[in-house]
Amino acid sequence: MLQMYTSVYDVRTSTEEATMIPPGPRLPSPLQTAWFTRDAPGMLERLHRRYGPVFTVRFTGIPPEVYVATGELAEQVFRTDQSGGQAGAARRDFLEHMVGAHSVLTLDGDPWWRHRKLLNPPLRAKQVAGYRDDIAAIAAAKIATWPLDRPFALRDRMQEITLEIIIRLIFGISDAGRVAQLHRLLPGLIEDGGSVLVALLPERLRGLPFGKEARFVRRRAEVDAILFDEIRRRRGEPGGTDMLGRLLETELADQEIRDELITMLIAGHETTATGLAWAFERLLRTPEVLDRLPDDEAYLEAVVKEVLRIRPVVYEAPRMLGEPLQLGPYEVPAGWLAGPFIPLVHHDPAAFPEPGEFRPERFLDGPQSRAWMPFGGGRRFCVGAQLALLEMRVIIQEVLHRLELAAPDQAPEARRLKNVTLSPARLTRVIARARTPARTR
Ligand code: HEM
Repeated sequence: MLQMYTSVYDVRTSTEEATMIPPGPRLPSPLQTAWFTRDAPGMLERLHRRYGPVFTVRFTGIPPEVYVATGELAEQVFRTDQSGGQAGAARRDFLEHMVGAHSVLTLDGDPWWRHRKLLNPPLRAKQVAGYRDDIAAIAAAKIATWPLDRPFALRDRMQEITLEIIIRLIFGISDAGRVAQLHRLLPGLIEDGGSVLVALLPERLRGLPFGKEARFVRRRAEVDAILFDEIRRRRGEPGGTDMLGRLLETELADQEIRDELITMLIAGHETTATGLAWAFERLLRTPEVLDRLPDDEAYLEAVVKEVLRIRPVVYEAPRMLGEPLQLGPYEVPAGWLAGPFIPLVHHDPAAFPEPGEFRPERFLDGPQSRAWMPFGGGRRFCVGAQLALLEMRVIIQEVLHRLELAAPDQAPEARRLKNVTLSPARLTRVIARARTPARTR
């Protein structure tokens, strides 16, 4: 069925040519949505080949979305952050029920900037460098519990590490009982909250005492009770280098701090875990790169950048346009979404020669291409990028110092869509063996 429609996907209407709206498939939007859900990278690669670097996709329930495929075009979209481009509005419907009404993810304009300028300083490279030893210790303790000599899904194990980092270093919680309670509550909260059924549930169906939404609301209340209790307690004992301590030094009110803590959880832990899963998925299939790790710090940094180039975790960084935007010969109307499809930008051979090759060396020599955008761009550039890059470097090192990993199956893992991320389809299946004797720094 899908196949039948995809054969007519390139019919353009005369209206589109007259107004020069970016071209795109004429499939009904439910079929475009289904195609995207089944194979987003494959679909967009095909549309890119057919229509060139700017094209329109129509999903069910949201405005038309224009994707661009080069760094330069992406920068034109990001430049709208200065005026009418609203990243918050583009995300609000899917996130507000989790992050609340006071989140850098979903705010725009002055209220966004008020929050963003308070979050920036503690998340700069110099500041997060202070977390290195804590990250290493958290990783080492978790790695010690991994199974040996039988296959397991590395992504899930990475997520336990990155979740613990959020709980301890962002929420500032160290009490073992509370840490365990949050490990129990948070994955389910995020899973249910990420479900389109919960996010887009009509108002009249909300508040039922059973079902996914009810479970989500219950868990959110439990998590909020813990966070508000911590916020109250820590107001009584100021200080601390964790993010909660730093946010308590700002003008933000308790509810605003709660919303930003949950924001960093939602934006920061699955993304980083997926980045780590891809790192090992690629490394285990590129032995000449793996052999140069883990102690050459410059090379390790290049490996992390190359992983995020060849397998960007977040596939898009859209803006809701407050005013029309000219992109090459096309005009994108106000009220539409526009932004890069990051895997296409990262496979532009003009920016990254032989883009299919996993070659960290490209980040060692010469200036970095502006087309590298795993963390988006413009004023909305990922606020946690430096923390994510540090986590990835440290955790890769900790794993490789302790274990030898192998892929049970050498075939590359496909990319599977999960919310706004692309994850390895088999969650990076690996077999671990103890390194004897354990390599230490
Ligand atoms: C490998 C891991 C990560 C990736 C690939 C990633 C990617 C992204 C991308 C693509 C955006 C959108 C940027 C744009 O619209 O131009 C973003 C925004 C954001 N990220 Fe990350 N991120 C990661 C880790 C983190 C971490 C660890 C944190 C927090 C501690 C975080 C917090 C945020 C926040 C709060 C925003 C919204 C910023 C704003 O709109 O002002 N991210 N991230």
